[in-house]
Amino acid sequence: MTNVSAHEASGNPTISLAYAPATSGQRRFALAVTLLQFVVCAVVAPFPAQVPRIDSYRGFVFASTSTTGPSLRDFLGRGCHYLDLMCDRAPGGDIEVTRPIKCDFPGNWKLPLENYSDNYHPSVLHQSALEVGATIMKEKYGDRQFSMRNSAADYVERTYGSGHGIQDFAGTRGAMWMNAYDNPEYRKALSARVGPDRAEELVDMDIHLVIYPNLLIHVRMNNFRVIRPLAVDRTEVWTYPCKLKGAPDDVNETLVLNTSHHVSAMGEIQVDDLQSYIWTQEGLQAEDMEWILLKLHGEDERVNEHGELEWRGTSEEIIRSQYREWGRLMLAGELV
Ligand SMILES: [Fe+2]
Repeated sequence: MTNVSAHEASGNPTISLAYAPATSGQRRFALAVTLLQFVVCAVVAPFPAQVPRIDSYRGFVFASTSTTGPSLRDFLGRGCHYLDLMCDRAPGGDIEVTRPIKCDFPGNWKLPLENYSDNYHPSVLHQSALEVGATIMKEKYGDRQFSMRNSAADYVERTYGSGHGIQDFAGTRGAMWMNAYDNPEYRKALSARVGPDRAEELVDMDIHLVIYPNLLIHVRMNNFRVIRPLAVDRTEVWTYPCKLKGAPDDVNETLVLNTSHHVSAMGEIQVDDLQSYIWTQEGLQAEDMEWILLKLHGEDERVNEHGELEWRGTSEEIIRSQYREWGRLMLAGELV
């Protein structure tokens, strides 16, 4: 108390731990410090001090912990094209991130990466949820219902280097999640920017994009996930629902709601995946099994006109390409 009084007398208020009500001078000083902290945080936060390289593409910001390595455009490669498709679907040409949904699980970070790269697990792991979803969609869209078959002729997977991969559902999932896009005003606005034919292509587009090592993009649902490793057996997954700039409010509300149904704690899909990660992590502790077999191939593997390795049907080639890249980076001694 004595010290506080002394500072008051000198006109130089300070913060005291004494158990006494703050003076008006102390309150003004504390307010000034708080405001200053906000300003400093707002200026400094966008520039992480220990990341040597930061670049962006279509608003997606990437950071590299290495001073060397390929440029962002070279690293993304064909991924730029797929990010363009996602953003071009917005009448305003941009997507807008909303508040993320976070989950964590006691397992390795590569498990959600593998999960996103295979298309044989949904018909088994998510069977009950998909049957409910298919019933709802059939009521609304009739025969354009979801198909759980993943060997449809039009379904294609691709890799294009550095562990990146894509699944192009090409209409095989029918009307699943198309409730967001059934809005004439949205289609009209998109058509005005890109033309009617291109608008139809963009609206019908249904791809999953994996940008190695930790970015997973669901184009039709208009969200992306970031995998954040915390320990060898602990991982966070942050899912960011996105809005389409220039689209009507009800389109964006439905898009965000669809993602919430998909990945939230009370949702239908990601809870299945999380449980599988936990059991897989436990199974991987078995000492009698040293190797895991990833030998599934699709049909008609070929290099397409864009230099991507492409095949029909479900394959484990995307997963194999990720482990090849992981091995290369580990042997190189630094992460890019
Ligand atoms: Fe899944």
